[in-house]
Amino acid sequence: MRVLVTAGPTREAIDDVRFLTSGSTGRMGFEIAAAARDAGHDVTLVFGPVPLSPPDGVTVVPVVSALDMRAAVLERFDEVDAVVMVAAVADYRPEERIEGKRKKADGPWDLRLVRNPDILSELGRRRTHQFLVGFALEAENGEANARAKLEAKGCDAIVLDSPATVGADVSDFAIVTRDGIEHLPNTTKAALAVQIVALL
Ligand code: CTP
Repeated sequence: MRVLVTAGPTREAIDDVRFLTSGSTGRMGFEIAAAARDAGHDVTLVFGPVPLSPPDGVTVVPVVSALDMRAAVLERFDEVDAVVMVAAVADYRPEERIEGKRKKADGPWDLRLVRNPDILSELGRRRTHQFLVGFALEAENGEANARAKLEAKGCDAIVLDSPATVGADVSDFAIVTRDGIEHLPNTTKAALAVQIVALL
């Protein structure tokens, strides 16, 4: 299969030297890309700025912002059989990018943010034959929220993650599909990646 994986954070510019982002390392998406490659699939990895090197043997497409990631994914969507959206896409971006470097002033600064497009929802609306997997990081009511996301975003599976996973080696995951839920307690990111590729 041709598999597209997104990974890492996105970076939303405030001015020429500052940006909003998250602490996503890209590790989970890179593990899935490597597992899909090892299973013999043709893999494209679209990823935001991360400190890690992407795995060998996959087509790499580095991007910066959520809008860049959206364009890179949509450009390739018709040609792929499955998309796994692991990227921690920023939900908001600064309304405008300030040219140069903003000087500080006295008092507070109101930075206005606008919503970024939801890439996974857009894929859910446009899909023809593609299998779609999303991730959800839920602090509470995980299964119910994951099920709601599955329907709202029009995907086939949601991988449920908890805030405890960030930076951890093993964690409790679950894969929620319309058929039910598979709990994967005490699982490494590499082992989860193999399960997700099997699901595809
Ligand atoms: N996602 C996306 N585009 C966005 C935001 C998220 O494609 N602009 C994808 C992520 O890659 C992930 C899933 O959607 O697969 C995460 O869903 P989301 O609703 O963003 O989860 P949360 O960030 O936990 O959202 P909320 O705060 O609404 O629960």
